[in-house]
Amino acid sequence: MAYSEKVIDHYTNPRNVGTLNKEAKNVGTGLVGAPECGDVMRLQIEVNDENVITDAKFKTFGCGSAIASSSLATEWLKGKSIDEALAIDNMDLVEELALPPVKIHCSVLAEDAIKSAINDYRVKNGLEALELPKSH
Ligand code: FES
Ligand code: FES
Repeated sequence: MAYSEKVIDHYTNPRNVGTLNKEAKNVGTGLVGAPECGDVMRLQIEVNDENVITDAKFKTFGCGSAIASSSLATEWLKGKSIDEALAIDNMDLVEELALPPVKIHCSVLAEDAIKSAINDYRVKNGLEALELPKSH
């Protein structure tokens, strides 16, 4: 299968690989796995008092498309409000990276990781976890 140039770019030069302090109150951590292939993704956000995401990091043990999806997701997350981050749809990632149908679940993993990081942040700060409808 041919990867798009954008996938190869993010795969060979992933943005924002790393770890934020999981214990910090203003950090949300999402850890998700894809049942289709067993790949695992961790995505973290750092949020300021105005509910704006000031930093995002990821670590993905997975295929090139999953790495590219999470790398792109962290780029998109920085500077967004929590509400804007919740609106990121996996199909936006699919479109931007030109992922083929067989790789759609890799982008679903990234969307799930964003939402799970937001929920971790919410629960840590005394808010209720949001119901997260499965996007697929
Ligand atoms: Fe692949 Fe849902 S199983 S998108
Ligand atoms: Fe499973 Fe990409 S093949 S995340």
